[in-house]
Amino acid sequence: MIRHKTLNPPLHVYPIDEWRIIETQFYPRFLSHSETLFSVGNGYLGMRGNHDEGIPHSQTGTFINGFHETWPLVYSERAFGFAKTGQTMLNVADAKIFKLYIDDEPFYLPTASLQLYERILDMQKGVLERRILWETAAGKQVLIESKRLVSLQHRHAAVISYQLTILNADAPVIISSEVVGNQRNQSGLVDPRQAKGFDYQVLESQDHYADKMRLMLTHRARNSGMTVACGVDHLIESEADYSVKSSCDGDNGRVIFSVNAKKKKTIQIFKFITYHSSRHALASELATRGEWTLDRLVSQGFDSLADGQQQYMDDFWRRSDIFIRGNAVSEGRHKREIQQSMRWNLFQILQASGRAEGTGIPAKGLTGQTYEGHYFWDTEIYVMPFLIYTAPEIARNLLRFRYSMLGRARERARELNLKGALYPWRTINGEEASAYYAAGTAQFHINADIMYALKKYVDITDDKALLYNEGAEMLVETARMWEDLGFYSDKKGGMFCIHGVTGPDEYTTVVNNNAYTNLMARENLWFAVKTVQELRESYPDYYETLQHQTGLRSEEIEAWQNAADKMYIPFDESLGIHPQDEDFLDLEKWDVKNTPRDRFPLLLNYHPLVIYRHQVIKQADVVLATLLLDHIFSAEEKRRNFEYYDPLTTGDSSLSACIQSIVAIEIGETKKAMEYARFAVLMDLADIGGNMADGCHVASMGGTWMIGVYGFAGMRDHDGRISLTRSSPIRLKSSFFHCRFAARDYWSIYRRRK
Ligand code: BGC
Repeated sequence: MIRHKTLNPPLHVYPIDEWRIIETQFYPRFLSHSETLFSVGNGYLGMRGNHDEGIPHSQTGTFINGFHETWPLVYSERAFGFAKTGQTMLNVADAKIFKLYIDDEPFYLPTASLQLYERILDMQKGVLERRILWETAAGKQVLIESKRLVSLQHRHAAVISYQLTILNADAPVIISSEVVGNQRNQSGLVDPRQAKGFDYQVLESQDHYADKMRLMLTHRARNSGMTVACGVDHLIESEADYSVKSSCDGDNGRVIFSVNAKKKKTIQIFKFITYHSSRHALASELATRGEWTLDRLVSQGFDSLADGQQQYMDDFWRRSDIFIRGNAVSEGRHKREIQQSMRWNLFQILQASGRAEGTGIPAKGLTGQTYEGHYFWDTEIYVMPFLIYTAPEIARNLLRFRYSMLGRARERARELNLKGALYPWRTINGEEASAYYAAGTAQFHINADIMYALKKYVDITDDKALLYNEGAEMLVETARMWEDLGFYSDKKGGMFCIHGVTGPDEYTTVVNNNAYTNLMARENLWFAVKTVQELRESYPDYYETLQHQTGLRSEEIEAWQNAADKMYIPFDESLGIHPQDEDFLDLEKWDVKNTPRDRFPLLLNYHPLVIYRHQVIKQADVVLATLLLDHIFSAEEKRRNFEYYDPLTTGDSSLSACIQSIVAIEIGETKKAMEYARFAVLMDLADIGGNMADGCHVASMGGTWMIGVYGFAGMRDHDGRISLTRSSPIRLKSSFFHCRFAARDYWSIYRRRK
């Protein structure tokens, strides 16, 4: 169902440019959007696009992937096995700040007289730039130029170049380069998707010091015990006289440059920034690591870091770009607008994942705290395809990260009276952190989603080492879970049924035989059988190790095969569709078309029970299955399912439009396909979901890559066999997208390099 959506902010606010996001005026109204829009990050460290002065801001934000606080989940009525511990990615010390005073007059963006204002996120360079010409009340013209980059080459590093030139006078200048700890965390009292906030000071100050132009602040999170160090150092180049003073207490560090600035003589300051975090190391040890990083960064200098960033970006775009060719459908402005958004989406995936080593990818990347910085299935189903084809080493790291959680997943299965392992629906540290089990833990499909990603990764890269070393163990434990969760139902003629689960659609919860879950579980079981048989027959050493690791017995393999072969997949003969679950078609239909626009998203406006008793869908569920398991559905089946579910789908989740677009392309629903594609591609730049201020939608971004590749280019890749033969009506007509991807080539080069 396509609801009419307004674009907010209107597109003219950020003029179209295919490689850059440009802001030509300071718009206080769009401050919060712009903080997300101009975020820079590398998958380990992320900085919201706050202004150099630190004020005004909607939310300051500096995030380290996986650096979190834990807190007891409080239920007024607790039940056995409910998740116990909340986890929240924290806002750490803000090291981006430069405060400026000319003739002791502070520069304050909202009231300053601006002769020039320009902020540019350059996606080719991976750098955020700002140029401002400020005329002070005394008529002095002050040119302020800054560049900010979070290094993709150096995981722990960021750097800011800050230049100041007074064009028409001399003046005393103070530049205060600051680090401010204990920043506010997001605190969403109404919207459950937002982080819940804290009523205590989470980060306790540890070692801290100032030494010449260097500052070091370290903190420890009160409950989780995680430690973080933030260090900065500076270089200054100035022909005019200057002096430097520095100071640091637990939460505030300052290096103050006092310069007798001369007309037209530029003052150049470089600020080198490093963050280190740990679950185990003492803060003092992190400070030492920070010192080493700073020594290296200062000796390398800004230009070298910028060159390294450029090389990384060139390589990234060479592997990942989706280039949109103009034609009758997409001429001129429209084409360039889509191109810009597409690139911004791909760039944000990079910023969320590039150096996410030993962690997952948070739902909002490192651009905000909504969803508490948690990792969901978003990574495996929406982002992995892009990574597998363009950066398989990152895909590999993410799968290995899931492997590192296997112990916790085994424990969680025990808590739910299950064999094997059950991955948490949402988490940072491997423990289930979903307080609402109906739309959380009950999404057992997470197990199958992870194994689906593993299979695609292995099929495409042929990385059997990962499959045999880590993959096989995950397969055994996830298959065990499915086999134990389901049962052979007499009422269903002895078929294998899975009850009490929630599928991807969170508007229908704890149901029996969710079609998506059963289909994906079946794939999981078959893949487990195939893999362990392969090991048993061809690699007995590996098989023995696997038996040792898991206690695997050969009768189990037969049991998985049997459960998969007998998997019950609901099907309604009269409609010729797969009911989303056993009872879905018996529910009353929700009138999505006539629901007032201000009542969306439904989750914020109706009690869950109202939603649950209707046929109404938050996001693609059966339709998603028809895409992921494309090979088992005929074109006619896809069309019938799409036509049934589309009018019931609210699109209240950003994970929906991209999938609906791809399936619509395939079945020839051209108009809908284009509209959904536009929603998905512009999800953030045009704030389609209305919550871009809280951070970007990483899953939808992965989905937009899929629109290009699986949608318009019509690629299919079942069992690693890539075909581009499927006729996409739109592609045939207009050759709309030119996609560049060559995972196999890339992967073989990558392996040769190793
Ligand atoms: C969606 C989930 C998704 C989560 C994080 C929710 O609104 O329903 O499918 O995993 O957002 O993006």
